[in-house]
Amino acid sequence: MKRILLPADAGFPVWRDRARAALQAGLAPGDVVWQVQGAEQAELFPEEDAPLSPVGEAVGHITRPCLVLLESILRHSDPERFALAYRILWRSQQEPHLPAIATDPDIRQATQMDRQIRRDAHKMKAFLRFREVVDDASTRRRFIAWFEPEHFILETVAPFFAERFSDMDWLILTPIGAIAACDGRITRDSEPREAPELTDDVEGLWHRYYQSIFNPARIKTKAMRSEMPVRYWKNLPETRLIPTMLADAGKRVAAMAAQQAEDSAARGEIPAFHARHQAEWSRRKAEEHARVEGLEGLPALAAALRGCDRCDLCRHATQVVPGAGPAGAALMMIGEQPGDQEDLHGTPFVGPAGAVLDRVLERVGIARESVYLTNAVKHFKFVSKGRRRIHQTPGRTELVACSPWLQQEIALVRPRLIVTLGATALQTLEGPSARLGSVRGRVRDATAQRPPSLATVHPSYLLRLPDAQRAQEEEARFARELIAARDWLESDRDAAPSPGPDREPDPGSFPSEPG
Ligand code: URA
Repeated sequence: MKRILLPADAGFPVWRDRARAALQAGLAPGDVVWQVQGAEQAELFPEEDAPLSPVGEAVGHITRPCLVLLESILRHSDPERFALAYRILWRSQQEPHLPAIATDPDIRQATQMDRQIRRDAHKMKAFLRFREVVDDASTRRRFIAWFEPEHFILETVAPFFAERFSDMDWLILTPIGAIAACDGRITRDSEPREAPELTDDVEGLWHRYYQSIFNPARIKTKAMRSEMPVRYWKNLPETRLIPTMLADAGKRVAAMAAQQAEDSAARGEIPAFHARHQAEWSRRKAEEHARVEGLEGLPALAAALRGCDRCDLCRHATQVVPGAGPAGAALMMIGEQPGDQEDLHGTPFVGPAGAVLDRVLERVGIARESVYLTNAVKHFKFVSKGRRRIHQTPGRTELVACSPWLQQEIALVRPRLIVTLGATALQTLEGPSARLGSVRGRVRDATAQRPPSLATVHPSYLLRLPDAQRAQEEEARFARELIAARDWLESDRDAAPSPGPDREPDPGSFPSEPG
């Protein structure tokens, strides 16, 4: 058995030299182990077996389609690519038409990898966003971009960017290296980079452009997600607009419909009588939507919420469950959605999860009455099973539809700190790629979208743990995280400027942890 060690980012040329030597030594695919440096086994056997002597000229033969396929799959990030490529090379010595046999398992795997690489390259071309770097010393405009490709595609996409942006200097940074164009010269390296801070005026241009091409009457959120997968969203300036634009869509569609009815009547296409009714109905709907943004005060918000039909959940739930707590609360806690009991009472956190929350709040010395408690989604989502209503996690459509209400609650309450309970609440604030495990338990600074925030688990998670010992440990951890929130508020209160004239005094009381 021969072990061949390769760097994790080794592409076709590096692999080709070893493969040629292996082929010449007559090593069958089963006689070679292709290992990636840094991989687990490589740590056990850090040294490559005595290297095969390099072969200068080509050995064996390889058809053009086979060569193209191998060059492509060696850009894939799967470490298995080396062994697969060698198997195909080896077999193609006896079966020259192998790459044309679509049903062959090796070819099927290679074709799938090839498709994944092409898709990755397509996404990079479509979703990479340059930001301008102001540099008075340069006579050319300079741009910088950050992207996270899944595969080793920098070489493949470099010509596209070189041609498309030939009149500017640009630098694309990625975790697998960088490509740059300076005075028309393209350079590339494979030194991993970290995401830089990218903010500039170009973002404003993007926002205006994206808003102008967005047609609210043609929203297909599923298609939007498949064309622009969620994993790319975090690096795209325009995706920050999507929730607001989707939320605004109803209002804009209604306004468009009203206008259209008037225009059709003016052109004599529909009877004036019907046009008048249609326009009137659409206008009322548009006004209804506009009211949410203009709502002043939590009682007005709660009243408006009762008429909410932004998604289908209102058709099945008993009632809407608005947030509860003092306006001006220092601490806002956001859960997922009302449960069975909350749906019946119209108040958040009054069921089993609420009982856990109450217990822990008391334990850490936070008065429930001082907290503004609300949910990411304001109607109960469930499926009926016999006489029981089983909770269903809300989907992105419901979260997006409900987000203007939450945003308006945040704007009205103006909490100094938000605690999100569970992944759904976290993702509502931070976007769908946020992971609870990586942010849990520490206060993160404010962003343009929200005040400082701390993410922790949902109390219902503690109820679901089957093991009593584990449940106790997890509850203790939950309590520690709420203490962190409480302590942060206390220290921030000392540091914070006194409340402004438009801000009610903070009714929160956060004494120290009980002994
Ligand atoms: N779970 C939540 O997320 N919110 C509630 O109000 C009740 C249970």
